[in-house]
Amino acid sequence: MSAQIIYGKQISDSIREELKVEAESLKQKGVTPGLVVIIVGADPASQVYVRNKAKACEQLGYYSEVVELPADTTQERLLGLIQQYNGNNAIHGILVQLPLPKHIEEKTIIDAIAVEKDVDGFHPQSVGNLMIGDDALLPCTPHGVIELLKRTGNHPAGKHAVVIGRSNIVGKPVAMLLLHENATVTICHSRTPNIVELARQADILVVGVGVPKMVKQDWVKPGAVVIDVGINRMDNGKLCGDVDYDDVVDVAGWITPVPGGVGPMTITMLMANTLKSATRTLR
Ligand code: GUN
Repeated sequence: MSAQIIYGKQISDSIREELKVEAESLKQKGVTPGLVVIIVGADPASQVYVRNKAKACEQLGYYSEVVELPADTTQERLLGLIQQYNGNNAIHGILVQLPLPKHIEEKTIIDAIAVEKDVDGFHPQSVGNLMIGDDALLPCTPHGVIELLKRTGNHPAGKHAVVIGRSNIVGKPVAMLLLHENATVTICHSRTPNIVELARQADILVVGVGVPKMVKQDWVKPGAVVIDVGINRMDNGKLCGDVDYDDVVDVAGWITPVPGGVGPMTITMLMANTLKSATRTLR
């Protein structure tokens, strides 16, 4: 039997409808959610992301600013700009597009963003809040994974979730969120010896490693939910995930395609964070 496909675009669209309604009601109370996206240099992939973020703001009726800086912008100039937006009441979310040019220290920049405006969820204090289970702005892609699970009725509570990958932006936060949802969580990585055996025990398998088509049919328990966070470009120019979709689709119970699975959720959860941050200013 073939897996049920988790169409992230459809789920993302329905969340955006909800956000639009909430944003409208917030505007009635005098607060328009505002996001600034700062991009340094002219990386084409980053430019596409930035454009899509601005488009999403427009679609939901948010205020948005895009600041495009030349590749030779100094760290001091960028820090100065962040300070300025930290104190700008029209802006509730600050996103500095990564990667940054080599002469700028990513950590210094992320640390400078006011934690209440950290809509990426990358600031150490946001990471700490997530760890504790405090009300945090959650990192967008991991949060999107949880929403995909919940909105397809695949609630993590009581399930064995296996996360493959331990990056700070996917593996670690996804594992922590799954734990908060009362899953039993196993984290696997490149040094895990019995990775196939562990993967095959998963009720929910989340993969984010950046290795094209790594997960094959024999890694997946029949009926498991397979969430593929990978996006890789193949030699023929097409995109593929970290899961060998064609191989796994016949054994999984649910599966996310690439593209069109997790991807569309990231910007939507950024919009959710911006709204959350804006809503908090009413308190
Ligand atoms: N570059 C690619 N993805 C992301 C993201 O989620 N946030 C930021 N700030 N930069 C990125």
